[in-house]
This record gives sequence, structure tokens and C-alpha cells, in this order.
Amino acid sequence: MARVLEKTKKQNSTEPKEMLWKGRNVLSLLILAVGIIVMFGVWAIAAEPWEVPAEEARKQNPVPADEKSIARGKELYLQACAACHGVTGKGNGPASVALDPKPADHTSPKMWEETDGSLFWKISTGRGAMPTFEDTYPTEDRWHLVNYLRTLAPKKSGTNTPTKGGKP
Ligand code: HEC
Repeated sequence: MARVLEKTKKQNSTEPKEMLWKGRNVLSLLILAVGIIVMFGVWAIAAEPWEVPAEEARKQNPVPADEKSIARGKELYLQACAACHGVTGKGNGPASVALDPKPADHTSPKMWEETDGSLFWKISTGRGAMPTFEDTYPTEDRWHLVNYLRTLAPKKSGTNTPTKGGKP
């Protein structure tokens, strides 16, 4: 009986250690693999246009772009966005120096090629260095931000605004 006990003790003291060691090897391989996948993912994202799901792009802006909304949007923008996108929205904020891809230029007329829903979705979900603001700001605040962004870019003359609602 005592021998059996001793044997089990011995087994207990060696085997789990070995298993732990093997486990560590597997774990470090796994971490390496995940690291490589993430690196390729970031590289692929940097090279690809930022696609917005059609349903999200079609979303209507429920917040009228009145003075109050634009003022609130500006307040939030200066707080949370200007560091990267720049105070005037040119994409040249102090924190933009190290970023690649660079923060978007909100003063480009190209901004009007995107719907309000599309901008809202990008602000909400983020990508790469562009943070996710879904959990930071309530829905209405994110629409205020869209309304403020709309004031930064001159409209291309003759273009049909793809947005409906939200613009007076
Ligand atoms: C840490 C830097 C950083 C901050 C802070 C930041 N952005 Fe960005 N933003 C980026 C980068 C980088 C991109 C480009 C991302 C890409 O193309 O993958 C981007 C892209 C965008 C786009 C997409 C533009 C387009 O036409 O595709 C919008 C809209 C945007 N940002 C709005 C905002 C708003 C609004 C805020 C503040 C609430 C904000 N960003 C804060 C870095 C930042």
C-alpha cells in the first residue's frame, strides 16, 4: 500500500511538470502564429480601402445638423479627434506623425462621397490606429460628430449629396 502511494506521488510530481513544459511549447508556438496572422492582418488592412457594410452606409442620420448639434460635435472633435486629425481636420494632428496610414483628411471634398451612415459607422467601429468610439460616446454624440465633420469639407459643386436627412 505504501509503495503504491509512493508510486502515485512520484507520478504526480513528474508528469504534470512534463505536461506543463509541453503546454508551454504549444503556447509559445500559438502566440507566434497569432502574432504572424495579426501582422499580416494589419498589413492587409493598411492596403485595402475601408469598406462599409451597405446596410450601415444607408443608415439615415437621425440628428438634424443644427447649430447646437454642430457645436456639440466640435466640442467632442477637439477633445477626442484633433490630436490625430488636426484642429482644422487636415489629418495632420501632432499624434499623426507616427501613423501609417495617416488619419483621414476631413477637409477633402472626397468626404462627400461617403454617406453620413458610412462616417458614423467608421467612427463607431474604428480601424487600425483609428479608435473605436462606440463605447466612448453615446449614439447621439457620434451623429453630432458626423454633423461637425460635414462642416469641414467644402462640397464639390454639382455632386449629389448621398446623404439624406441630417442636412438642412
Ligand atoms: C489615434 C489617432 C486617431 C484619433 C484619436 C481619431 N482618429 Fe479618425 N482616423 C485615424 C486614422 C489613422 C484613420 C485612417 C484609418 C484607415 O484608413 O485605416 C482615421 C480615419 C477616420 C475616418 C474615416 C475617414 C474616411 O473617409 O475613410 C473618420 C470618419 C474618422 N477617422 C473620424 C474620427 C473622429 C470623429 C474622431 C474623434 C471622435 C477620430 N477620428 C479620432 C486616426 C485617429
